Amino acid sequence: MSENRDREIIRIERLTLLVRYISVLLVLIIVSIFVILYLLHQPAAKQQREQVAKAEQTASSLFWIAPDTATITNDSIREWILLGRAIITNTSAYFGATGTVRKQATNGMNCQNCHLDAGTKIFGNNYGSVYSTYPKYRARSGGIENIHKRINDCFERSLNGLALDTASREMRAIVAYITWLGSGVPKGEKANGSGLKDIRLLTRAADPDKGSVVYINKCQQCHQAGGQGQMNLTKTAFIYPPLWGDQSYNIGAGLYRISTFAKFVKYNMPQGVSHTLTQLTDEEAWDVAAFINSQPRPVKDISRDWPYISEKPMDHPFGPYADGFSETQHKYGPYQPIIDKMKNLKKQNTTTL
Ligand code: HEC
Ligand code: HEC
Repeated sequence: MSENRDREIIRIERLTLLVRYISVLLVLIIVSIFVILYLLHQPAAKQQREQVAKAEQTASSLFWIAPDTATITNDSIREWILLGRAIITNTSAYFGATGTVRKQATNGMNCQNCHLDAGTKIFGNNYGSVYSTYPKYRARSGGIENIHKRINDCFERSLNGLALDTASREMRAIVAYITWLGSGVPKGEKANGSGLKDIRLLTRAADPDKGSVVYINKCQQCHQAGGQGQMNLTKTAFIYPPLWGDQSYNIGAGLYRISTFAKFVKYNMPQGVSHTLTQLTDEEAWDVAAFINSQPRPVKDISRDWPYISEKPMDHPFGPYADGFSETQHKYGPYQPIIDKMKNLKKQNTTTL
């Protein structure tokens, strides 16, 4: 009887011991699972925090911010700057069909049509780096250009009009405005987000037929079926600027290069998009650029442009070229073979020197 009880007690003791062991083991396993999960989560959370911080920084301090006119203390300087800004935003009032300074000196467009928000929008072809980088060598003219020359380039090409006298009140005002805009950017440096944002190259040629579909679906409602844009009721300014035809930019303008057009449009059109919120795919941007730049527009004698043909950009649509590719391939791409060839030519030149 007692032997049986003893055995029973031993059995129970062993069982309790086993249960204890198992519970300790279970606790240990659970604890280590938590530790492992915590350790695994740590880097992910840290990475996430870093990403958020980076995005916030990118959104605010990383990009150039145009100065505020309220901070200009000198009255006379402020007047010049404000006049300059008014000419940029409302160029047609000064130089358009009924312009107050000179009538019919331009196609009626405003500088702001292409230099968005008076030349302050990030990647909206803004003027952030103009003052810090001019005067500079430009391959298009093959010489050193100052800000006045660059401004007149846009008057003669993008506005298909007449150059301003360098000493004129209007030119001085525009220069004052652009200088003031870029005054916070160290000389020789480029402000982050200035000018245009780069766009990936296509491996095929840009396709005007595909581009015409993009145009009908995403551009025509504003820029109109004939690309002529739309004027206000009093016909003094464009509500929607023209993209081709008599009142558009001429063949010497920056936008006539398909890469420049694609960069502008991808991050700025349809109206309202920005570099952080685009609508067009890269393909659509290149194709619509090909379509619009295949339509008729004013001609300018640009035979003196790019005096050193080896400095012609890949998408300059007029020969002669140093690389032997056709005008068609230069205009529409594919560009990579052109880029590679030019690189090789340059290498050869430097090794034979
Ligand atoms: C039809 C479009 C268009 C219009 C209108 C236009 N521009 Fe431009 N402008 C451009 C393009 C495109 C560039 C070159 C951008 C590039 O290649 O990065 C440019 C470049 C410039 C630059 C040099 C920018 C830099 O960072 O090097 C200045 C300055 C300038 N324009 C001033 C003006 C002024 C002033 C007006 C009005 C009189 C004007 N532009 C009207 C399209 C236009
Ligand atoms: C909702 C109307 C609207 C739509 C849609 C639209 N745009 Fe624009 N676009 C404008 C306005 C307005 C401007 C002038 C911006 C300014 O002055 O601030 C402009 C300016 C331009 C310019 C520079 C000025 C010029 O006339 O050369 C180009 C190039 C351009 N748009 C191309 C396009 C393309 C390509 C599409 C289609 C993918 C498109 N836009 C869709 C309203 C529109």
